[in-house]
Amino acid sequence: MILLSCFNLQGLSLLDLATARPAAGGIATDLQALLQFKAKITGDPHKIVESWNNSIPFCQWRGVTCCRKHRRVTKLDLKIPQEIGLLRRLEILDLTNNSISSEIPSNLSACTKLTVVDMTGNHLTGEIPTWLDLLSNLRVLGFYYNSLRGSIPPSLGNLSSLEKLGLSFNALSGIIPEALGQLTNLSFFSAQENAISGVVPTTMFNLSKIRLFDIGGNKIQGTLHSNLVISMPNVEFFSIESNQISGQIPISVSNFSNISVLQFHNNSFSGNVPSLEKLDKLFNLELGINHLGDGREGDLNFLCTLLNKTKLTFLHVGNNNFGGELPECISNFSSTLVGLVMSTNKIWGRIPNGIGNLINLEVLGVYQNQLSGPIPFEIGSLQKLTIFYAYGNFLSETIPHSIGNLTELTELSLDYNNLQGNIPSSLGNCQNLLLMSLSHNNLSGSIPSQVLGLSSMSILLDLSSNDLAGELPVTVGYMKNLGEFHVSQNRLSGLIPNNLGSCVSLEKLFLNDNLFEGPLPSSLSSLKGLEALDVSDNNLSGAIPDFLVSFSALKYLNLSFNDFEGVIPSEGVFKNASATFVEGNSKLCGGIPELHLSRCNTKTSSNTSHKLKIVIIVVTLGVALVFTCLLILWFTKKKERKLTTASVENSILRLSYQSIQRATDGFAMENLVGTGCFGSVYKRILEENGTVIAVKVLNLLNRGASRSFLTECEALKNIRHRNLVKILTAISSVDYKGNDFKALVYEFMENGSLDDWLHPSVNTNEQEMMRNLSFFQRVDVAVDVAHALEYLHHHCETSIIHCDLKPSNILLDNEMIGHIGDFGLAKILFADRLDHYANQSSSLGLRGTIGYAPPGKYMHFSSNFIIILYLLLCI
Ligand SMILES: *[C@@H]1O[C@H](CO)[C@@H](O)[C@H](O)[C@H]1NC(C)=O
Ligand SMILES: *[C@@H]1O[C@H](CO)[C@@H](O)[C@H](O)[C@H]1NC(C)=O
Ligand SMILES: *[C@@H]1O[C@H](CO)[C@@H](O)[C@H](O)[C@H]1NC(C)=O
Ligand SMILES: *[C@@H]1O[C@H](CO)[C@@H](O)[C@H](O)[C@H]1NC(C)=O
Ligand SMILES: *[C@@H]1O[C@H](CO)[C@@H](O)[C@H](O)[C@H]1NC(C)=O
Ligand SMILES: *[C@@H]1O[C@H](CO)[C@@H](O)[C@H](O)[C@H]1NC(C)=O
Ligand SMILES: *[C@@H]1O[C@H](CO)[C@@H](O)[C@H](O)[C@H]1NC(C)=O
Ligand SMILES: *[C@@H]1O[C@H](CO)[C@@H](O)[C@H](O)[C@H]1NC(C)=O
Ligand SMILES: *[C@@H]1O[C@H](CO)[C@@H](O)[C@H](O)[C@H]1NC(C)=O
Ligand SMILES: *[C@@H]1O[C@H](CO)[C@@H](O)[C@H](O)[C@H]1NC(C)=O
Repeated sequence: MILLSCFNLQGLSLLDLATARPAAGGIATDLQALLQFKAKITGDPHKIVESWNNSIPFCQWRGVTCCRKHRRVTKLDLKIPQEIGLLRRLEILDLTNNSISSEIPSNLSACTKLTVVDMTGNHLTGEIPTWLDLLSNLRVLGFYYNSLRGSIPPSLGNLSSLEKLGLSFNALSGIIPEALGQLTNLSFFSAQENAISGVVPTTMFNLSKIRLFDIGGNKIQGTLHSNLVISMPNVEFFSIESNQISGQIPISVSNFSNISVLQFHNNSFSGNVPSLEKLDKLFNLELGINHLGDGREGDLNFLCTLLNKTKLTFLHVGNNNFGGELPECISNFSSTLVGLVMSTNKIWGRIPNGIGNLINLEVLGVYQNQLSGPIPFEIGSLQKLTIFYAYGNFLSETIPHSIGNLTELTELSLDYNNLQGNIPSSLGNCQNLLLMSLSHNNLSGSIPSQVLGLSSMSILLDLSSNDLAGELPVTVGYMKNLGEFHVSQNRLSGLIPNNLGSCVSLEKLFLNDNLFEGPLPSSLSSLKGLEALDVSDNNLSGAIPDFLVSFSALKYLNLSFNDFEGVIPSEGVFKNASATFVEGNSKLCGGIPELHLSRCNTKTSSNTSHKLKIVIIVVTLGVALVFTCLLILWFTKKKERKLTTASVENSILRLSYQSIQRATDGFAMENLVGTGCFGSVYKRILEENGTVIAVKVLNLLNRGASRSFLTECEALKNIRHRNLVKILTAISSVDYKGNDFKALVYEFMENGSLDDWLHPSVNTNEQEMMRNLSFFQRVDVAVDVAHALEYLHHHCETSIIHCDLKPSNILLDNEMIGHIGDFGLAKILFADRLDHYANQSSSLGLRGTIGYAPPGKYMHFSSNFIIILYLLLCI
């Protein structure tokens, strides 16, 4: 027997190995799986698995490849040997999801008993062998996801028993052989995503047992006629999308009574769409990107044949030539509808009020049509809507206030319409918006601060070409992730707010054609990623700030028609006359000659004493500068730390149970960084400023416990020491189940706990193996801890005894400085219960972890302690 005997009869698929529960046992699982695999192999002429034994790590076994990081098996390279041909009685060959990279071995042709050959998901090369017809018993032939080239051999048409033929996702070319039309028992034919050309042989359309027919994503041409008989009464999935097929959609598709997915999109179909009335199981209908319709009334009649389709979920008819009024009947589509796209057609009329019935709609695209009338108030019922595109129509009246109900909305585009009135402040409720464009309307009034303060906004906020007035709200600074901000061509006035400098992700900033005045604020110097800045046609004044010179990404700078004054720089973007526009600023001078500005009146003098003065000044300044730099360097560390902590404090004031719950994705495992007896610790990144914090959610045994929690925390918050983990805030609330929810928010310590360093877990991966504390680092940590303890014991208002000091409570920051965590927790957590149980026997285990924390011992803090502690760390 040979290697491959294990693949069939015993039903073991290599996939079982490759995907063997990655999370569960890690490398131990992989080892087990490989050994089990080996055990089932009864012969091994190529001596591949013979070498698989414990004398070397399994990652070095022959044919086994591991990923470098986690030392997990990623690839088993077991070539298919020609000896496969000796398996004369082999019936099933299932090699799915491996990394076999050979050609299909020619000796396989000897295995004439084969009924199933499935090599899906490998790296097979070469062509599909013409001799496959020798395997005359084949029912299933699967080559999905390989790298096969060449054309489909016509000989496959002689495999009369073939039921499934899967060729999708290869690099096949050539044509679909007419002979395949002889495969009367074929029920699955899939050749999606290849480079197949030619026309579909009409014989294929007679395969009455077909359930899946998918030739999408090829280069297939030809013309279908409306009277072509596609006689596939059982077809459930029919796709010829993304080819070059023209003609009409055959009327016979209206007989596809079992169809679930019907895709004709991205071809050149024209004419009308037949009735789809009988297609009761329709789930996905895609007709987009064709030339369907005559631009006339009646084109969309077929839509009303889709009512009562209780499974209809996606409907795409966009990018066609459909005309006529948007039929009211769409209000009666099944409420299962998730996506409705009718964009880029010639559809007129109103968006029906009944659209509010489609309560599961997530995507609504009606852009680039001729729709008029208002956006219906009922849009507010579509509470799952995430994408709403209606730009390029004639929509009028005000944007309904109910749009604020669409809290899941991520993209809203209503530009190029005739919308009037104010921007509804309720849009401020749409806190998932990444993109919003309301440009080119007649919107008036001021910009609501709620809208300009949406911190989620990250792709684009475009309010340009409206009639907006008033000042730019200072809340603009909340949009720290915003890439593009356009408010040009309005009547905005006042100063450009300093807070705009907080939008540090900005790449495009267009403030032109407004009434802004005053200088360009110096805070804009933080917009270092700017690629385009246009402030033209305003009343801005003052000097041109120097920082613009250092914006290396800046490719377009328009300062024209303002009242700027002084010298224009000649460096950076100013070097490029085709990128910089400064005309209409009569007080500007200098710059490169191409800008055609007057020369500046600098007072130069050849007087030598003058020169001497300059030299003296320069030297003095230089010396002063060096000293200043040294001083700054000296203090930078402290300052930085203070600054970030202050900003963290500001933004965490608003934390609540809900926000923590949301930010940790409902306390999801992937955010969990550790659990202890006091509770679980989650890592969280503050949206507001990107700071990383750790949230410790306390285990509370009973309701109403720890009443004094907040007061205690307040006290602890004020205890500050370099070697204590700082408590930033505390949250006391009630969770969704009505239980007490208490959490402490700490600074996040990047290097985890000392415990992780001293006792790395057994499943060490490479990264963790790097963790090795040097002698001096250990001493440093010991000293850090000693400092903190001394502070807790002797320098706090009331001395605090940790009660649970152990390596896992000593945390290391990014500079490997030790910080004691969880100090005072014992006090907080047990204070109430102590009151409660005051008279009962107190075997509450207050004493912390046995062996580490005899309270009182540390009260007698001495210099010897450092040494003791050091020894402790080495355990
Ligand atoms: C283990 O495999 C090595 C080759 O990798 C081989 O030299 C050795 O003999 C094997 N040991 C046993 C006990 O099979
Ligand atoms: C492949 O088949 C040929 C012809 O049947 C035979 O001579 C040859 O030995 C086979 N190769 C192997 C490796 O089995
Ligand atoms: C092969 O892998 C793909 C992608 O990981 C997966 O969807 C498919 O179910 C796997 N095939 C089999 C037969 O398990
Ligand atoms: C199918 O088999 C018949 C008879 O064996 C043969 O004449 C014909 O050429 C084969 N067709 C193809 C396409 O190989
Ligand atoms: C086609 O399928 C039918 C029913 O499953 C079966 O009876 C028949 O033998 C098949 N035809 C061939 C050529 O295998
Ligand atoms: C399809 O089958 C019908 C009868 O079942 C037959 O009349 C017609 O010629 C066939 N068409 C093609 C293209 O084979
Ligand atoms: C449609 O599917 C059902 C079950 O899914 C099946 O019973 C029926 O034969 C299929 N064909 C037609 C034409 O309805
Ligand atoms: C639909 O099927 C019925 C019965 O099977 C048949 O009479 C009719 O001609 C078919 N219609 C089209 C357009 O193919
Ligand atoms: C939808 O179903 C209702 C009642 O079930 C029926 O009155 C109506 O005619 C059906 N509409 C279509 C287009 O099938
Ligand atoms: C807005 O949502 C609420 C529920 O959150 C719902 O009761 C109300 O009808 C919605 N408003 C509109 C206009 O749909």
